Amino acid sequence: MLLHIENVLTAEELAYAQNLLADAPWSDGKITAGKQSGQVKNNLQLPQTSETGMAMAELVKSAVLRNAEFFSATLPHTVFPPLVNCYRAGQNFGNHIDNAIRQDPYTQQWVRTDVSSTLFLNEPDEYEGGELVIEDNYGSHSVKLAAGDMIVYPATSLHHVTPVTQGQRVASFFWTQSMIPSDEKRTMLFDMDRAITSIRAQYGETDESILLTGVYHNLLRQWADM
Ligand code: NI
Repeated sequence: MLLHIENVLTAEELAYAQNLLADAPWSDGKITAGKQSGQVKNNLQLPQTSETGMAMAELVKSAVLRNAEFFSATLPHTVFPPLVNCYRAGQNFGNHIDNAIRQDPYTQQWVRTDVSSTLFLNEPDEYEGGELVIEDNYGSHSVKLAAGDMIVYPATSLHHVTPVTQGQRVASFFWTQSMIPSDEKRTMLFDMDRAITSIRAQYGETDESILLTGVYHNLLRQWADM
């Protein structure tokens, strides 16, 4: 499932983030890359333990955790502290699949990366190139969103970021360990939740909506990996 969530950050949060990042202590993006991805990763990244890095992680994490669509789509067990990267002219990130397991630098906890998310932090007209291209069974999808919007996609996907040729692209990205490791099952639960919510909005609470809600929860109970 590829999901575009609009306005994850409020206008105030976005302005706060852009202000924080205006003089960010960028370092080489290879700091969190694995062996394969390190060879194709050519960008800048905010050190996670820097003051700006920690403030950004807190801001993005609280914004995504209050977002009902994100919750329904990812069924988060653990959200890895969000990172921030920057691509300037000539920088890109070649094809790779994100590492399956990562260690939270603050808690030392191991996190399985089921879902990847990229939250765009500046407007698409501020740079040329810099598309996030995600491949799935249905082909490749090129993504470049408004500032404050986010794309959520399976961490099992092959993806790359095309070269930025002008300006700079700033985005936050992070991984989520889901209570439902399987993308197929997670997608079915998300569709079911959306359908039930819509039925309830149209017809109010009915015997059928109560039954379907029960089925949703019983599937979740069967499939949840905690
Ligand atoms: Ni990646």
